[in-house]
Amino acid sequence: IEALDARAREIMRGNDMGGYTIPTKGLYPFQWNWDSAFAAWGFSTFDLDRAWTELETLFSAQWPDGMVPHIIFHRPDPGYFPGPEVWGTRTDPPTSGISQPPVAAILARRILAADPVAGRARMKALWPKMLAWHRWWRRCRCGHGVAAVAHPWESGRDNCTDWDPGMARVDASGVGEYTRRDTGHVDASMRPGKLDYDRFLAILQFGRDCGWDQQTIVERGPFLMADPAITFILIRAHRDLAALGQELGADPGEIATLEGWAADLVAALPMIWHKKLGAHVARDLRSGEFAPAISSGAFLAWLANCARDEAEARLIAIWDRVRFGIPSSDPAAPGFESRRYWRGPTWPVVNALIAIGMRDSGRDALEARLRRETAELIANGGFWEYFDPLDGTPCGGDAFTWTAAIWLTWAR
Ligand code: DGY
Repeated sequence: IEALDARAREIMRGNDMGGYTIPTKGLYPFQWNWDSAFAAWGFSTFDLDRAWTELETLFSAQWPDGMVPHIIFHRPDPGYFPGPEVWGTRTDPPTSGISQPPVAAILARRILAADPVAGRARMKALWPKMLAWHRWWRRCRCGHGVAAVAHPWESGRDNCTDWDPGMARVDASGVGEYTRRDTGHVDASMRPGKLDYDRFLAILQFGRDCGWDQQTIVERGPFLMADPAITFILIRAHRDLAALGQELGADPGEIATLEGWAADLVAALPMIWHKKLGAHVARDLRSGEFAPAISSGAFLAWLANCARDEAEARLIAIWDRVRFGIPSSDPAAPGFESRRYWRGPTWPVVNALIAIGMRDSGRDALEARLRRETAELIANGGFWEYFDPLDGTPCGGDAFTWTAAIWLTWAR
């Protein structure tokens, strides 16, 4: 354990670019939003000051409308596509034009708990920024009830089967020539396919061409789907931000607003309840069509304390189909691929979020199993981005920040 701890810290230090941490060298050479929040949580186990700095740097790139972008391009790097010139957001620093799962408040609450006195002033300064970001989610992504994503990259679960119905409707015929960089770093069989990338870019181009105008994107953009994962994360994050507000003596009106937003999301959950599959499932907001399979998003109902009893056995059955961790998509569904990014692999970060929910809801035996399986993957395979849930093969990028962070905070 000590050797793995030391290696995890070494990876986090090695990916520290000074104030922000890259997910991994080569494949992801900038600051990513939810990666950074997990990095902060990891740093909090051995360098609390550095943990707060990570979050502060993330929020320093917040847009005036409250959005916190999914990538911050602090320094140019030709090894990544699509870079700042493709996004065309004209911000300083340059950023992407979409957001990513709002886990920051959930993890900030845990970081503050590590030392409430030392962290108080820094959390207090971050609180209104987090509130502004949550307000952005409410205003720009929750108009249909539950939380939506306007790009699969915004979900953080890029090529998951969740997005198949919405992606099928995206016309990528005008996308033009481009060169991918990701497949120069990682085997193409572990990455999204060419048609996925064409569609990712077509959606991006629509956003850029309308100057990232949110109303246009939500009303007329090529892709808009209800996301169970972000919905559950946001319910939990609203409540955690409200609890942080209580602790810090924030305006009671703002705390009540956050609680109201969480309650509204809970009330809207029936719209993503799939009767036949018996779980919460992603749904295309343009056509009403549900995604074809249950994904790891459904398991996050525990994180939000919104699980329905009738789903429990079905979710466990999906988990039982694999050997290691929660698969990102149901192995019994036709779209499952055990090594292709979000179409099947298990992700230590998602396992950690699900585990928080398991523990908080008293599912201790499930939590212990998930921790054991995740620890085994890392101990046997190393600190990789994700893993084949059937045989434990390490996949994607190596020396990965968030896997190191999950080791230090939860899996060890
Ligand atoms: C990528 O480039 O694969 C990222 O997931 C986009 O955020």
